[in-house]
Amino acid sequence: MHVNKFTDLDLSGKRVFIRADLNVPQDEAGNITEDTRIKASLPSIRHALEQGAAVMVTSHLGRPTEGTVGPEDTLSPVAVRLSQLLQAPVRLVRDWVEGGFAVQPGEVVLLENCRCNVGEKKNSEELAKKMAALCDIYVNDAFGTAHRAEATTHGIARFAPIACAGILMGAEIDALSRALYAPARPLIAIVGGAKVSSKLTILKSLAEKVDQLIVGGGIANTFLLASGKRIGESLAEADLVKEAHAIMDFMRARGAMVPLPVDVVVADEVSALARANKIAVNEVGPHDRILDIGPKSAAELAQNVAHAGTIVWNGPVGVFEHAQFAGGTKMLASAIAHSEAFSIAGGGDTLAAIAKFNIADDVGYISTGGGAFLEFLEGKTLPAIAALEARFDD
Ligand code: 3PG
Repeated sequence: MHVNKFTDLDLSGKRVFIRADLNVPQDEAGNITEDTRIKASLPSIRHALEQGAAVMVTSHLGRPTEGTVGPEDTLSPVAVRLSQLLQAPVRLVRDWVEGGFAVQPGEVVLLENCRCNVGEKKNSEELAKKMAALCDIYVNDAFGTAHRAEATTHGIARFAPIACAGILMGAEIDALSRALYAPARPLIAIVGGAKVSSKLTILKSLAEKVDQLIVGGGIANTFLLASGKRIGESLAEADLVKEAHAIMDFMRARGAMVPLPVDVVVADEVSALARANKIAVNEVGPHDRILDIGPKSAAELAQNVAHAGTIVWNGPVGVFEHAQFAGGTKMLASAIAHSEAFSIAGGGDTLAAIAKFNIADDVGYISTGGGAFLEFLEGKTLPAIAALEARFDD
């Protein structure tokens, strides 16, 4: 992917507009509960400040109604956190689209929730032109929002004098491209989650590229059904058995595989108090619910992961929130952490598992994208990246 890089540009005295993804979770009182995305945005902001640019940063927060900024919509808590992390004042600017606010070189301001501006979501050309007029250089560093064609992620890139990818955006594109388009082999993907239907496109797209497709959770149950196993009362989608079958056949035909569990952890309910049984996959009873892969399967998959060249991870293989169903995900997480392979992980549940098993430092790259990470894995063109590509070298 060819995009202009922020770090290649002369920024001194320039007005730089950074579209970041600072869409962070908050508790009911508005306190930020997880600030990874703010921290991930710092390198571009610091770089711009160090180079003497006048820096404007904006982001969406949530999915507000356009035209008003409600108390739950404001980036005010983000401004406070950003200021703490930068150890510099960060002024929050409201009603900024028409300009009329001053930013000095070496100063950073945060422009209020861009999704509150009328026309943002529909990618209004009029709005995009006004925002483009505020800057000399537009920087898209919002990989987490790269799957949205909105005025700050797409339209503005068409009209700003220069449009480039920020440091985070560049790192995300490099890591994902390396894993999917130039992987060291074997390439193993781990795709877990409740439903085949929500990940069908990803499964199909990965089936064309990977050497092994490890499936987990409800997805694995549908594949077990497709391979003729009984799964009792486990979560599965019987109407997608054909699709699962087709994926397995397709993989087999190209010399790749979908390794299915040989043993599983079952219970009759999903709860912290549920009594878990480890049984062979052929022993699943009519009232059992499969809630994790068994230790033998986990050990086998961990062996495979240990010999991988590249690992792409999205989704846990069991209900890891409860200790008795966490063994499979824990063992795979540990295998990823110890593997020499280049590993990349993304998605909310996966990040929670990484945090729980404390392996963040041992994963090659952790994506800040949720939906954007998944769409990249699906092989889709992300509109925000396409907009930057269209401005390459001009
Ligand atoms: C996310 O949290 O995945 C991104 O910030 C995108 O948010 P959206 O789904 O509201 O566009």
